[in-house]
Amino acid sequence: MPKYSVAVVGLGFVGLSTAACFAKLGAKVLGVDIDKKKIAAVEKGVLSFYEPGLKPILKKVIKDGSFTVSSNIRLVAQAPIIFIVVGTPSKEDGSMEDRFLLSASRQIGAGIKGSNSYHLIVVKSTGIPGTSLKLVVPEIEKASGLKYGEGFGACSNPEFLREGSAIEDTLNPDRIIIGGRPKDTEMLKTFYKKIYGKKLPKVICTNPTNAELIKYANNTFLAMKISFINQIARVCEILPESDIGVIANGIGLDKRINPLFLRAGLGFGGSCFPKDVKAFIEFSKKLGYYPPLAEATMKVNEDQPISAVRMAEKKLGNLEGKKIALLGLAFKPDTDDMREAVSITIVKELLKRKAKVFAHDPKALNTAAAIFDGKISLEKNAKACLKNADCAILVTEWMEYASLKPKDFKKLMKNPVLIDGRRLFDADEFSEQLDFAAVGLGSKV
Ligand SMILES: NC(=O)c1ccc[n+]([C@@H]2O[C@H](COP(=O)([O-])OP(=O)(O)OC[C@H]3O[C@@H](n4cnc5c(N)ncnc54)[C@H](O)[C@@H]3O)[C@@H](O)[C@H]2O)c1
Repeated sequence: MPKYSVAVVGLGFVGLSTAACFAKLGAKVLGVDIDKKKIAAVEKGVLSFYEPGLKPILKKVIKDGSFTVSSNIRLVAQAPIIFIVVGTPSKEDGSMEDRFLLSASRQIGAGIKGSNSYHLIVVKSTGIPGTSLKLVVPEIEKASGLKYGEGFGACSNPEFLREGSAIEDTLNPDRIIIGGRPKDTEMLKTFYKKIYGKKLPKVICTNPTNAELIKYANNTFLAMKISFINQIARVCEILPESDIGVIANGIGLDKRINPLFLRAGLGFGGSCFPKDVKAFIEFSKKLGYYPPLAEATMKVNEDQPISAVRMAEKKLGNLEGKKIALLGLAFKPDTDDMREAVSITIVKELLKRKAKVFAHDPKALNTAAAIFDGKISLEKNAKACLKNADCAILVTEWMEYASLKPKDFKKLMKNPVLIDGRRLFDADEFSEQLDFAAVGLGSKV
């Protein structure tokens, strides 16, 4: 009888959220990470990132013994199903970095060497088509001396959870995609059936290539939807009397389009969309096809944050020496993650123009301090950030900023110029009382 029902290798944002939720759903879970400091912190229920709802679950499952963590990867041999959830960041050219996957596979292979029970290796990391069978399987065969299909099996099982709602997404997934040989997909499906019971969503079992491509097609489509609405927003900004909020509402009611991901803003960031779209582009190019929609998606996205800086210039002229207050730094609300956050581009552009940058974020100040290294002033609250500012830019739509009223900006700022980069504020109310501009908002005539 194996000691654990599953092992999760890589306790970053996805691995830890998934492992804790699996344990909450009744599985006996082993979590492994090479980072010993992280293991020591997780053991105490301490998180190195912010994710709503995760901490209490983690504390509970560690305490009741359903979740055990270790830096000893060899322990994975005690679990029949081993999830790989290590990072697959972008290389310089945008293609997928596979070194974490390769080393984790080698270590897992060494861990299951000599074992006489069958292990299923499940690749949950986002990997380009071929990752499971051409990267992971050969490394495990080499390190374990076992043969794929006999001593061990492999599946691709891409993850779709969203930062900020990782718990809800893991406890109630929309669908589960599994790519592998029938024996392996059935083994993983049985695990999911056991933990989700009646709540098991639709499970699509296919081959690894399709499963891997589904993840890239999914993220490229969502990113494209964002760039699409941002492109229409840019037209609205030139077209008097137009408003992207109304346009998005109008088209979102068409069932074929739907309202999700139709919110215009300063572009997408985070650890997934930019890297996955870029990896998809590079992967397609290697196949001999240049994917024009994916390329345009990135092109629109790269310019969106700079458009906020241009709006500030339109209002203030030369930005040199001007105090610009940024509200929000995280790539989206409810996270402290700043990987590929648009705030980084905005800060870079403002500093290039010699503006004085002040910023606030409810959760990401520590992350920001490491990124900006003293080049901007980080403020503990929004009001301190706005004090004496020449212009404010709303970068991340945290709910706490929604309670700010025009009178707050007027009272605190030297010059009440506000650029709403996420359409958080009521455009009519704010335009009446402030010098206001917003993404996708045409001028009034
Ligand atoms: N972040 C998201 O919202 C999200 C959503 C869906 C899918 N994904 C995908 O999930 C994967 C993981 O993403 P993440 O954001 O959790 O990454 P991350 O960088 O936060 O975490 C990766 C973890 O793996 C550990 N690690 C690296 N090599 C290891 C090894 N050999 N053995 C054990 N541990 C090792 C690292 O120490 C780190 O803790 C990526 O492929 C990503 O694209 C991410």
